Amino acid sequence: AASANGASTSGAVVESQPTASQTVTILYGSQTGNGKGVATELAAKAQAQGYAVNLASMGDYNVRQLKQETILLAVVSTHGEGEAPDDAIELHKFLSSKRAPKLDNLSYAVLALGDSSYEFFCQTGKDFDSRLAALGAKSLLPLVECDVDYEQAAEEWQDSVVDAVKPLIQTASASVVPLTQAQTATSEYTKQNPYTAEVLVSQKLTGRDSDRDVRHVEIDLGESGIQYQVGDALGIWFSNNPALVNEIISGLSLSADEQVIVGKETTSLVEALTDKKELTQLYPGLVKAWAEFSGNADLLALSEDKAQTRQFILNNQLADLVSAYPAKVNAAQLVEVLRPLTPRLYSIASSQAEVESEVHLTVALVEDEREGQARFGGASHFLASAEEGQQVKVYVEPNKHFRLPESADTPVIMVGPGTGVAPFRAFIQQRVADGVSGESWLFFGNPHFEQDFLYQVEWQQYLKSGDLSRLDVAFSRDQAEKVYVQHRITEQAEQVWQWLQNGAHVYICGDADRMAKDVHQALVNVAVSQGGLSEEDAKAYFEELRAAKRYQKDVY
Ligand code: 2AM
Repeated sequence: AASANGASTSGAVVESQPTASQTVTILYGSQTGNGKGVATELAAKAQAQGYAVNLASMGDYNVRQLKQETILLAVVSTHGEGEAPDDAIELHKFLSSKRAPKLDNLSYAVLALGDSSYEFFCQTGKDFDSRLAALGAKSLLPLVECDVDYEQAAEEWQDSVVDAVKPLIQTASASVVPLTQAQTATSEYTKQNPYTAEVLVSQKLTGRDSDRDVRHVEIDLGESGIQYQVGDALGIWFSNNPALVNEIISGLSLSADEQVIVGKETTSLVEALTDKKELTQLYPGLVKAWAEFSGNADLLALSEDKAQTRQFILNNQLADLVSAYPAKVNAAQLVEVLRPLTPRLYSIASSQAEVESEVHLTVALVEDEREGQARFGGASHFLASAEEGQQVKVYVEPNKHFRLPESADTPVIMVGPGTGVAPFRAFIQQRVADGVSGESWLFFGNPHFEQDFLYQVEWQQYLKSGDLSRLDVAFSRDQAEKVYVQHRITEQAEQVWQWLQNGAHVYICGDADRMAKDVHQALVNVAVSQGGLSEEDAKAYFEELRAAKRYQKDVY
């Protein structure tokens, strides 16, 4: 889930500047909103210097304008297996294409955001940096690559680039471009300044015999005045589980009350581990550090191997390191090597037109067992075990790349297996409230009909009332052969193509690695079999739909 405030669903974030020569153009490509945040802060700092600034999402940027630019500052993240964020895809491609112009007059700097637990760390940022250089642009600063704890490095980069562009600029005090609604209309509650809300309900949606524990969570936004749009995500700051914190502290024979320094604050070790440090996700540097703390030869060897480290990180937590690789680590060292706790984003499953000051989520409890010991995902366990009245810090992360069509009669095809169904519950609530006439078609899948049909009663009521036109389900494990949503799409190829011809918007939400790719391929196959397109043209067709905002994904 990602990006700019819902107020701006159309065109450019900032009007393009008539005064070309000394404008600082700041572009961001951002899947989760972090890149946008960094770019927006940079814009404010540059404006404070009196520079003329043009801030835009790469997705809203006209690539043909590139050859007129003189100063370009880019903030771009990388996600998945080295992929560019959706809003950066077009510019990323353009820079590597034969159409890319010479950029001899351009000075640039790139900030790359990424996650070092992935193999292609910061790849998109690296590509931007090397392509701009190859096209003749002059580098103002070496590429800066940031890991998930990017805040400080990003701040330093902002200050350095503001200084680096100074000699290039005759201060144009009057030509500051006003930040549009997208920057100004966001709620006062942000990632850094979240709202303390209360959990109203955390109720199991899956059956007693299900392999999965999926929760419907309702949160009260009270008098906060927080507004969200369907398609947005909710950021959740959680506390680590007390039992887990204790296990780590006692496993290392440390004292809970010992004072430690986190950033500029001094707190007890137990508080730092509960509310400030990431305990449930490892990163490569921590595995490496632990190999050294423990002196364990196997772990040392593993930490030298990227692929093995990646696998290890997926299957283990800090508490597993503590129990399997005894180490001498003091409290200060532990706190130093752990990353800051980061909030988790959940696609919102409700519309305020229906639930007003509430926000609903569909949360799959991440759980696993190792050596007889249960291990849980941080935020999902916090939400799944929340009692009524539990406080939780939240903020809205707008996602303008996942929006209902503007027109009320546009049909929508929604593909949402598992918890990917969440935003479509919000979509239907919204369309009911708006009295929308356009048709809607939901593809849902999960292991078992009896156990895992999330929100079954609601879908059936919507079908009955006509608010949902069609529902196709794929219960993967109810028969010998696996059946997935993409198989249903293939079975309904003729109808799906008909809907596309009628202008339907297509939405995919859920698993990015396998599901979204397989569904994409199934859609391409529909265009081949029904539209008579070549494979290449079929791919181009969906690329055009994507550019026209008719094909949108919220995948993770
Ligand atoms: P499975 O776990 O039985 O294989 C939600 O997680 C649903 O998505 C489950 O029914 C799951 O099936 C299914 N699923 C797993 N891999 C998938 C894929 N590549 N494409 C679509 N659905 C998939």
